[in-house]
Amino acid sequence: DVPGLLDRFGRTARDLRISVTEKCSLRCTYCMPEQGLPAIPREELLTPAEIGRLVGIGVHRLGVREVRLTGGEPLMRADLAEIVRLSAEAAPGIDLSMTSNGIGLDRRVGALVAAGLTRVNVSLDTVDRAHFAELTRRDRLPDVIAGIRAAHAAGLTPLKLNAVLMRETLPGAAELLAWALAEGCRLRFIEQMPLGADQNWARDHMVPASELLAVLSERFELTGIGRDDPSAPGEEWLVDGGPATVGVIASVTRSFCADCDRTRITAEGTVRSCLFGDNETDLRHLLRGGADDEEIARWWRGAMWAKQSGHGIDAETFSPPARSMGAIGG
Ligand code: GTP
Ligand code: 5AD
Ligand code: SF4
Repeated sequence: DVPGLLDRFGRTARDLRISVTEKCSLRCTYCMPEQGLPAIPREELLTPAEIGRLVGIGVHRLGVREVRLTGGEPLMRADLAEIVRLSAEAAPGIDLSMTSNGIGLDRRVGALVAAGLTRVNVSLDTVDRAHFAELTRRDRLPDVIAGIRAAHAAGLTPLKLNAVLMRETLPGAAELLAWALAEGCRLRFIEQMPLGADQNWARDHMVPASELLAVLSERFELTGIGRDDPSAPGEEWLVDGGPATVGVIASVTRSFCADCDRTRITAEGTVRSCLFGDNETDLRHLLRGGADDEEIARWWRGAMWAKQSGHGIDAETFSPPARSMGAIGG
């Protein structure tokens, strides 16, 4: 066992999340501004070979045990299958997943699975087409559903669905759960965090997990079974006695920062130790400047050692991160 990515608060990061692009095919109001995020110049984006190399360093020198590709929307990269292939080759046998909005997945899932993708989580906040178009500013619900079904058929299971909790979607939450159950997907609701580019988040406007559970309980019998493991962000409930479950990621009201096991790489190749920590350590210049694996590992360890204790959303002094979630990687 190699020494892991430790921090000053006694945590070890084993879950690597790599953002591969800031681009997205949707414009969810809690995440992206209407015009999209400022484009990252092409030469500043990590190449598939560079991503593969970082995955290898993470796994072989730093104790990383699972890798997730995020964005932005990973499918916006034409070379995504190459990213998956080189990552899988660098880390044979490890869980290599992706968080996606599902658009275009139906056409590309075969190539991604062949390249080594093991799992996918798809973001879906409502199954009402008009409502979806309003929330995402794009009328693409049928494409998302096609993507979910194709991923399921291709064996990317368990397939998890992520729904961000909003005032507008709370009345449809039970219907969304019924839909997920019928499709054989594991739905998780997520408390909204102050990460949107429009900065339209307010603590007293957000929907807390407790309110969601009250709404779902009107239609389903829920039995709490806790977390899959201590660092899992979601808590799970059996639905109507199980085996189906629903999850809640209560990042704000029941923060899991004390058990956080994440390390992030942004699309431009910086290490970001916390979603909410704007200090980033540039690995891209090391990669391109001829540094060897051990030197890169040393900088990565240093970046993680400096990780902050938590998001501090409820602190007097809290200010949202300078970069939105689409740029950091969700
Ligand atoms: P699984 O391994 O499939 O359970 O994936 P996951 O839950 O780690 O990943 P996913 O990308 O599906 O993340 C789900 C949600 O958790 C995201 O949409 C975020 O809202 C939230 N989340 C992800 N990473 C972090 C994090 O580091 N901190 C906090 N506070 N929330 C996070
Ligand atoms: N708060 C919580 N989750 C968010 N996501 C995007 N923005 C936010 C936010 N402000 C989620 C998406 C997706 C994942 C990558 O992050 O719905 O599931
Ligand atoms: Fe970890 Fe930071 Fe997310 Fe908390 S907010 S769970 S410390 S990455």
